[in-house]
Amino acid sequence: MDFFRFASADIGLIGLAVMGQNLILNMNDNGYTVACFNRTVSKVDHFLENEAKGTKVVGAHSIQEFCAMLKRPRKIVLLVKAGPAVDALIAEIIPYLEKGDIIIDGGNSHFPDSDRRMAELEAKGFLFVGSGVSGGEEGARYGPSLMPGGSKDAWPEIKEIFQAIAAKSDGEPCCDWVGTGGAGHYVKMIHNGIEYGDMQLIAEAYAFMEHGLGMNYDEMSQTLAEWNKGVLDSFLIEITRDVLAFKDTDGKPIVPKILDCAGQKGTGKWTAISALDFGQPVTLIGEAVFARCLSALKNEREKASLKLGGPKPNFEGDRKQFLQDLEQALYASKIVSYTQGYMLLREASKAFNYDLNFASIALMWRGGCIIRSVFLKDITNAYRKNKELDSLLLDDFFAKAITKAQPGWRRVVSQGALWGIAQPATSAALSFFDGYRTAKGSASLIQGLRDYFGAHTFKVMPGQENDVFKDKEDIHVNWTGRGGSVSASTYIA
Ligand SMILES: *[C@@H]1O[C@H](CO)[C@@H](O)[C@H](O)[C@H]1NC(C)=O
Ligand SMILES: *[C@@H]1O[C@H](CO)[C@@H](O)[C@H](O)[C@H]1NC(C)=O
Repeated sequence: MDFFRFASADIGLIGLAVMGQNLILNMNDNGYTVACFNRTVSKVDHFLENEAKGTKVVGAHSIQEFCAMLKRPRKIVLLVKAGPAVDALIAEIIPYLEKGDIIIDGGNSHFPDSDRRMAELEAKGFLFVGSGVSGGEEGARYGPSLMPGGSKDAWPEIKEIFQAIAAKSDGEPCCDWVGTGGAGHYVKMIHNGIEYGDMQLIAEAYAFMEHGLGMNYDEMSQTLAEWNKGVLDSFLIEITRDVLAFKDTDGKPIVPKILDCAGQKGTGKWTAISALDFGQPVTLIGEAVFARCLSALKNEREKASLKLGGPKPNFEGDRKQFLQDLEQALYASKIVSYTQGYMLLREASKAFNYDLNFASIALMWRGGCIIRSVFLKDITNAYRKNKELDSLLLDDFFAKAITKAQPGWRRVVSQGALWGIAQPATSAALSFFDGYRTAKGSASLIQGLRDYFGAHTFKVMPGQENDVFKDKEDIHVNWTGRGGSVSASTYIA
């Protein structure tokens, strides 16, 4: 049978869960003919008869038929569970592909898998794209943030469709080429890590308002509504406003009824692991992941709450002023969090040769996705002004913003310590900031200790060379009068 007669679809998608269905409908709205397939073929028929009724979407009952429906080079989007299922599906598709065809993994794959898949598929003459997709069901349907990376030659082929269906920010699509290999999934992972950080910071502000200032849920929601008109204007602040105001059927706020144990699916942890691998101080996301781990220890926390006393907050003073401080603390911590996230992107770009475009990454996050915010526009501007920017904190705009926010931020962190309100992310952000702006730090002592007990040697500060420190390289001191002349760099006892 000559399937080529039917090769009429612009793009194909496998995996008809809600995200897949919504992406298909989005592509259809933008004028593309989409072919779809699901292993449970009844899902294909059901989709065509219901959600996709009256559209140009076509369905296939086998992978062979599906591949035959696609114009060349074939563009096949996979939206299936990350992991071995992706490899198994790719292996099934390959027999029906021709050179130059493109497989696009739109799932939540871990970036090393995408690095590997690109290499494997390119070796066979095919192209691979690993694309971050963010924005949940709504985003998929009406405009997600798309972060595609992989085989560079695939980009001209998919660019038009991808940018057409993506969210727009000030008329610019929230989708651009991220880089080679697993770059798309790496950037999506950082996006999720930053999302962990943003949510933790908001949760800490909530704890302050509830336990420190004794505010009720409507007052808190009102405050968030105010914040959403200023520098914090973002999707997460907006939905926090709504979630805090939401009432259960008994008319009482629902949030305090929700079990206080946060779940996680792993992308925050992957980000923290990547930070450790690269030796980058991405402390805020790390604290956000650990805060979820601590939240999960509900039983232990309950026991500890009975045994370990602490101060009771008693707020006196100007509540309005304090809420302004809190807003500044949140803003300053957020600047630190994105600074740290970008430090990690910079290292990954170097180490994996991803060749990331930092300005367009912020642009991709500006619309459609969970961390979308007005704030990201300032990041795009910073990197458009200077592509080689060492750190966001060294950009004039952010340097000024964080300087201005500092006094309120410090008052919040010290008040939190006095009140006994945990604020791991907000205080880690401040510690990072103070460490980062310290030219001469306390690591001199650590190096001294390491040389004392382990003969690990140290280098000398410029200008401190003398008779003992003849040169600056690898000095070992006879600290105790019992020391030998061998150092750990030459001999480890
Ligand atoms: C089929 O659809 C289900 C959701 O309904 C999805 O979980 C699964 O990954 C899909 N599988 C394939 C191979 O299409
Ligand atoms: C370390 O100091 C002691 C006491 O001054 C001395 O006896 C010893 O020779 C020194 N060791 C070296 C390697 O200089």
